[in-house]
Amino acid sequence: MITRRTALRALGFAAVGTTSLPSKINPLFAQDSNTSTLFNNVLAIPPLASGTRADDSTHYQLTLQKGSKQFIPGKTTATFGINGDYLGPTLLMKRDDSVALSVHNQLGEPSTLHWHGFHVPATEDGGPKQQIEDGATWNPSFKVAQNGGTYWYHSHVLHNTGEQVYKGLAGMILVQDEQEEALGLPSDYGVDDIPLIVQDRRFSSDGSFSYMSRYDDLVIGAHGDTLLVNGTTQGFFEPSTRLVRFRLLNAANARTFVFAFSDGREFQQIASDGGLLNAPVAMTSLELAPAERAEILVDFSDGNEVMLRSLAMQPNFPEFPGALSRIMRSLNAQAFDVLRIKPLATLSGETTVPAHLTNIERMAASDDLYQREFRISMGFGSRSGEDRGPGTGARTGLGGGHGGGHSIINGRVMNMNFINETVALNSTEIWVLSNNSPMSHPFHVHHGQFQILDRNGELPPDNEMGWKDTVRVGSGETVRIIMRFEDFADAENPYMYHCHILEHEDQGMMGQFVVV
Ligand code: C2O
Ligand code: CU
Ligand code: CU
Repeated sequence: MITRRTALRALGFAAVGTTSLPSKINPLFAQDSNTSTLFNNVLAIPPLASGTRADDSTHYQLTLQKGSKQFIPGKTTATFGINGDYLGPTLLMKRDDSVALSVHNQLGEPSTLHWHGFHVPATEDGGPKQQIEDGATWNPSFKVAQNGGTYWYHSHVLHNTGEQVYKGLAGMILVQDEQEEALGLPSDYGVDDIPLIVQDRRFSSDGSFSYMSRYDDLVIGAHGDTLLVNGTTQGFFEPSTRLVRFRLLNAANARTFVFAFSDGREFQQIASDGGLLNAPVAMTSLELAPAERAEILVDFSDGNEVMLRSLAMQPNFPEFPGALSRIMRSLNAQAFDVLRIKPLATLSGETTVPAHLTNIERMAASDDLYQREFRISMGFGSRSGEDRGPGTGARTGLGGGHGGGHSIINGRVMNMNFINETVALNSTEIWVLSNNSPMSHPFHVHHGQFQILDRNGELPPDNEMGWKDTVRVGSGETVRIIMRFEDFADAENPYMYHCHILEHEDQGMMGQFVVV
């Protein structure tokens, strides 16, 4: 098994300093209890788009457009948006419905729109192969095969996803199904069912987005110092009900958030990427990497004002001279206030949370299942190469400094003309994800939802026992996932798997598979 120590050695660094490298969260509770007097901007709620009915399907019109927005008082930022200046509407879909979307590109550059977490034919998936040229319209249609839950859509254009999402090409998809509706969970959109699209951004002094302006961005992905929730900086939300359901979406390019409340209050996670968990999971902090979602229920019946925060993660990278140590030690080490929450004086509704939510049948590992290995590594000009077949990156084994590093999977960078993996239709496979790089990578698979079998041989925590489409693979970790490949056999059109740190994806930490 790959350990952190061998992960470092693979990068050409001796593991210096401590032998135990805790990844523990640094609790900030009570350090500053003054909930700031800032955070006075009313939280924007993206408009809900329920589509229009025609020809037995629901139609959505989406225009990718340029815009501008004042994130910083007195300064204007050039943005991208979908039917608006920044981000897009929340698409409301119903399970088993047929949907037809019309995506019109007015950006002045090529783009795509991908339905993250959806089980759809590869031709409708909106990956890099479904590029929409400037001025063109793409008309995908599919049946909604998803459980009730929180999904999202975003640009997935080759080599430029990071910048387009940074500028605003993303939105939420909310799927409803009968089983979930019967539970009576808070579901009044914008009232007690609140989307929280969390992103970090960096701005230049003139107000423009400062994307990829630092060397660090190339290595660990674009991190910012300003938090946006639904595009609102310094946001403020007033619950009118005792119980609120937040749909948390980490739509950051690269940053991992550890959500918690300033008073340390407990909340219940009820859903993961692909819908409801079997039962609510009580927690006081929740780690979400880019692209991961979680629905949580929070009880505000005490009426107290509270801050939703992202806690600092303790640097778990040893200190030694040089840029790599500094960059890795800075990773997610910053705490943020995310959203100020001030309940109204009178609150309505109940606080009861159903004890049982759904029945997820755990998929079992067995020796006759096909296992595929995915080795995640980062170059930095030092040794990280594996095999060097078609699609292999230009360099391995050259050493010397850490410029020009490649973020790669199985020793290869993404090549649009190379199919990395071929999966048999109706098979169940185990994918073994290992990470010998010095940082965590959120691994995402298109085509549908999977389950996490284990992390370093141990069962995942309760909130990772449900359906997932993106999983964190920590430095030195081996994570096994299990997935069934049903429907949509197509030898020509591949699906993608990739790291959801968008700068890594753009650098080629991505591969293609076909289902045949
Ligand atoms: Cu959220 Cu391949 O993407
Ligand atoms: Cu996806
Ligand atoms: Cu990555």
